[in-house]
Amino acid sequence: MSVDTQADLIGIQEAGQAVAITLKKMHDYAEPGMSTKELDEFGYNILKAFGATPAPKKEYGFPGYTCISLNHEVCHGIPSPQVLLQEGDLVNIDVSAELNGYFGDNGGSFVLGKDYRQLNPLVQASKDILYKAMSKIKGGVRISDIGGLIETEAKRRGFKVVKNICGHGIGRKLHEEPREIPCYRDRLLRTRFRKNSVIALETFISTGARNVYEASDGWTLVTKDKSFVAQHEHTLIVTDGYPIVVTKDNGI
Ligand code: CO
Ligand code: CO
Repeated sequence: MSVDTQADLIGIQEAGQAVAITLKKMHDYAEPGMSTKELDEFGYNILKAFGATPAPKKEYGFPGYTCISLNHEVCHGIPSPQVLLQEGDLVNIDVSAELNGYFGDNGGSFVLGKDYRQLNPLVQASKDILYKAMSKIKGGVRISDIGGLIETEAKRRGFKVVKNICGHGIGRKLHEEPREIPCYRDRLLRTRFRKNSVIALETFISTGARNVYEASDGWTLVTKDKSFVAQHEHTLIVTDGYPIVVTKDNGI
């Protein structure tokens, strides 16, 4: 969507703040031994207190309030009472919700407790690259140039990018135009970022895999080769300068 009125600006900022604070609190609440379902319900109660509706369920019928993906799961992981968080897990929490007709979307990966598998460099790369990409986005910039930057920065640190999942436009729905903001230089993509548009920028930085696959549950996207992927995501309003980051309070 395009933010054209003060009401739009406030609406997007409030939705962004609801998902950001929810993500921050879920991140702080997560601990070894807790089920992903318990963490999901904790997040749901925070969203509910904001008056926000979880977007994956509302828009797609996803069987959970938030997406919680562990280790070789990359995204869209289904919260479960049987899945317990363990020390050293690579955890990704992605929170998206609708509030007063506006959507916010943010996510982040982190290592829970001790980093047995030395995944923190991957997590840090994903975070740094997201912020570097954000600093280059303004009205008129080619979407493919940002993809190229993400890919180049990943390579520089010895990582790959996942090509078949992307950032996206957002606003009045969870997914809007532009449908795909890839993490690589897609030479066929000629479109540019538009001033005042709302986007969810996402990194998918990988230790090996360039593609993810749907697991047998019909939702979770996983790597086939057991490589790890870190994702970080912010919802932004594109301007002539540094974007307005509406999910900046997420603490990840
Ligand atoms: Co998301
Ligand atoms: Co998203």
